[in-house]
Amino acid sequence: MKSHIALLSMALALGAVLTGSLGNAAPQTAKQSPATEPVAPQRPDVAGVGAGKQGDLIRQGKQIFDQTPIHAKAYVGNRLSCNDCHLQGGTEPKAAPLTGVPGLFPLYSERAGRVINFGERVQECFVRSENGTAPPLDSPEMNALLAYIEWISQGVSKQETLAGRGLVQVPLLTGNADRGVVIYKQRCAACHQDNGAGVPGAFPPLWGSDSYNDGAGMHKIPKMAAFLVKAMPPTQPGSLSPQEAYDVAAYIHGKPRAKFNPANSKY
Ligand code: HEC
Ligand code: HEC
Repeated sequence: MKSHIALLSMALALGAVLTGSLGNAAPQTAKQSPATEPVAPQRPDVAGVGAGKQGDLIRQGKQIFDQTPIHAKAYVGNRLSCNDCHLQGGTEPKAAPLTGVPGLFPLYSERAGRVINFGERVQECFVRSENGTAPPLDSPEMNALLAYIEWISQGVSKQETLAGRGLVQVPLLTGNADRGVVIYKQRCAACHQDNGAGVPGAFPPLWGSDSYNDGAGMHKIPKMAAFLVKAMPPTQPGSLSPQEAYDVAAYIHGKPRAKFNPANSKY
């Protein structure tokens, strides 16, 4: 009963968010990119992938990407999926896309202090962003993820990859958590909840034991600010100023989360 009330109030609050954004003349295409950026392809639909072993692997990789805690359970320690941060199935430019990125590897990693391969980079998101452990490079989960990411990379030139890679550029600012909490309550809490835990199956957790650990890329204020300017709230992407994004990121940064365990990482 209690959870029904919570869900109902969440739905009402979300309704308010949506209505609020409709009252505004801004175009309502979610995940809109400024005209100067490469056009985001539609979220890739694996339905058209051919039958057979390779097709199955790609479809399995997509499932892992979208619902990582379910389909790569053994290696995940939280409630986050790759797709919660790598938007549109990892294809959205400037939202940490993975299209074409395998072709840039092997690549020098500052974290590792050596050249790493693409699978090793994926392992790092498992031990930090997924707060889990590294799937072996020859595990079925890794093979499926790599097959999926290779599939979305087909036909993407190196130039396109470099143009869309990473996050949007934001100036280096100082966030203020006192201003951030106000923004959080107005623009984020309807989905991610006051306690930051989100809503299972709908909205991902931002802090607490179900979120990324303190070794993750998202745990850096400038990185989160860049993600937010581009993508949040999803009903009005691009509506936060860089300063607002830093403020709310500073607020979230001050909240508890799991500690990165170096024993889980190769570097
Ligand atoms: C909590 C958010 C989050 C989650 C969940 C997450 N990642 Fe990441 N990932 C990031 C961020 C942030 C970066 C760094 C982007 C940057 O700095 O340009 C990154 C970088 C990467 C890179 C390197 C990209 C590049 O351009 O070099 C790969 C590969 C990657 N992630 C794969 C994955 C996979 C596969 C999953 C799921 C198993 C996953 N990530 C889950 C946030 C996340
Ligand atoms: C309308 C619901 C909604 C609102 C409002 C919203 N988000 Fe999100 N957020 C999502 C969803 C859904 C995702 C998963 C990615 C996607 O599908 O767009 C997400 C992903 C994220 C992520 C990356 C994944 C994670 O859990 O760390 C961060 C960080 C984030 N949101 C922060 C914010 C902040 C800060 C605000 C307020 C400025 C905000 N969001 C407002 C729905 C929302």
